[in-house]
Amino acid sequence: MLWRGVACAILLVALCACDQSNDESDGKKSKTSAVAPTSRFESDVIPILRQNCATCHLTGQEAGSMSLTPKVAWQTLVNVKAAGAPGLVRVVPGRPEASYLLMKLEGTQIEHGGAGARMPFGAPPLPPDQISIIRQWIADGAEK
Ligand code: HEC
Repeated sequence: MLWRGVACAILLVALCACDQSNDESDGKKSKTSAVAPTSRFESDVIPILRQNCATCHLTGQEAGSMSLTPKVAWQTLVNVKAAGAPGLVRVVPGRPEASYLLMKLEGTQIEHGGAGARMPFGAPPLPPDQISIIRQWIADGAEK
């Protein structure tokens, strides 16, 4: 009877220790993902822009005044004032909710003082997972 009690106690201690080490490794994991962006411009964002946007936003002379082709998309977007929305910036690093690009993708541009249509113009909205990729890239600091 006593032996059983002891075995039980040991088992409990072992279980607790196991739980703790799990917590620690989870903590490490989330730290790593905060350091390494989960969405990268070149590999994750550019393909979306190239496929859905650069068809219209080609040279920068078109309506919207921006080229979203791979070589110039970053400098066209990040910290650049929106053409159609006074006071708003296309991409504010770290602040997806303040970025006009995201408003245009979600169709909230009018309520934020912007103009025009939800993007992509004349086509169905981007699927939510693609919008999430762009939001994540901005939240991570909108690095090139
Ligand atoms: C069929 C053509 C077409 C496609 C495709 C298209 N756009 Fe546009 N875009 C426009 C036009 C026209 C405007 C200007 C009128 C307006 O704002 O609605 C514009 C404006 C914008 C603006 C506002 C720029 C500013 O500074 O005011 C953003 C941001 C934008 N587009 C992003 C995108 C993104 C991102 C995609 C791809 C998901 C995309 N567009 C796809 C035609 C297009």
